[in-house]
Amino acid sequence: MMKVKIVADPTAGGKAGYELFAAALENNARVFGLATGSTPISTYDEITASNLDFSKCISINLDEYVSLAPTHPQSYHAFMQEHFFDKKPFSKSYVPDGLNPDEQEETARYEKLIAENPIDFQILGLGRNGHIGFNEPGTPFDSITHRVELTQSTIDANARFFDNEKDVPRYAYSMGIGTIMKSKEILIEAYGENKADAVKKMIEEPSTEQVPASVLQQHSNVTVLIDQAAASKLT
Ligand code: F6R
Repeated sequence: MMKVKIVADPTAGGKAGYELFAAALENNARVFGLATGSTPISTYDEITASNLDFSKCISINLDEYVSLAPTHPQSYHAFMQEHFFDKKPFSKSYVPDGLNPDEQEETARYEKLIAENPIDFQILGLGRNGHIGFNEPGTPFDSITHRVELTQSTIDANARFFDNEKDVPRYAYSMGIGTIMKSKEILIEAYGENKADAVKKMIEEPSTEQVPASVLQQHSNVTVLIDQAAASKLT
């Protein structure tokens, strides 16, 4: 059963997201799965401004671009440092190693890390096409951590952030859908009208691999946190 919570706007969503993190901590969650992107920023802002203490917890991020150093400004490592870890540290924070060229080794290492540190609480954003992590439509629901080839449209959209076209990442490492589904509790947030179609498909239409987030209908502890714009197509 998905619990759906509708708030006025992303600022209110940040407060509601914060409350869910606080409750998870209170209930002894120790391993937090984290996401990047614009969506979780209001939640991270509330958390980093609070007195919540993650110093005895670890964090494990969903994904990272292959080929980017952790110090590269477009890396997900750098995003997490800026929006979370610099202000509110964990005892240890893990993000896939984009500089490991050995796909087999890196994905197996990451999957093992998660198996050894099961995720108590996972936050997700929702792609406009229903993706979660870098798992695009068609990714098997039982997929584990893998290397994803980015679509041309993603590569083109990212090109503006790089000096040189050849520096734009072609691949990413991402937890699989099966990996994500092992989390004990999941929070997925979505804000804005351009997420309304994906929100409707995720919640109200049959679960299908064509809409990765619709897998969450099969999870026992999911909260969907959306603003009114993202909820506008729900019946
Ligand atoms: C981020 C991630 C992505 C984003 C999704 C939504 O780590 O894995 O799935 O959550 O693309 O992005 P935003 O929040 O920027 O709309």
